[in-house]
Amino acid sequence: MLLLAASYLSLQVLDLSSNALSGGVPSAIGNFSRLRILNISRNSLGGFIPPSVGDLNTTLILDLSHNQLNGSIPAEIRGAVSLQELRLDSNFLYGAIIKYWETVHL
Ligand SMILES: *[C@@H]1O[C@H](CO)[C@@H](O)[C@H](O)[C@H]1NC(C)=O
Ligand SMILES: *[C@@H]1O[C@H](CO)[C@@H](O)[C@H](O)[C@H]1NC(C)=O
Ligand SMILES: *[C@@H]1O[C@H](CO)[C@@H](O)[C@H](O)[C@H]1NC(C)=O
Ligand SMILES: *[C@@H]1O[C@H](CO)[C@@H](O)[C@H](O)[C@H]1NC(C)=O
Repeated sequence: MLLLAASYLSLQVLDLSSNALSGGVPSAIGNFSRLRILNISRNSLGGFIPPSVGDLNTTLILDLSHNQLNGSIPAEIRGAVSLQELRLDSNFLYGAIIKYWETVHL
């Protein structure tokens, strides 16, 4: 709900880490195209990473670590061309990812 409301703003930093969030990562996450930093680590988010993460093309830091995400890492994530740091560790993800970012924590 918070994510949906905030998508109408030109948010640059969104830190919802350690908030006991559950459910899935909303696919509307891709609408935060101006986000520089998105940290939703240390929650209880399950399900798949939505392909719309690839729309986050100005995002520098994306931290989805320490959740219960499963499935494969969507190939679309390559659309997030500005990423410098991607943290996906401590989930139930599988699949290959091309490590062309500066720091990738899997
Ligand atoms: C996000 O963008 C999609 C189109 O890309 C639109 O259909 C959807 O309503 C948007 N969601 C929100 C919460 O603005
Ligand atoms: C995200 O927030 C957590 C604290 O809840 C912090 O430990 C972590 O370093 C942050 N991630 C990044 C990339 O700064
Ligand atoms: C993936 O997460 C969803 C939502 O939490 C869950 O319903 C599903 O059983 C999980 N799938 C696997 C293979 O763990
Ligand atoms: C990000 O995507 C938008 C919409 O598709 C596009 O207009 C913009 O040029 C892209 N920016 C970068 C840095 O790729």
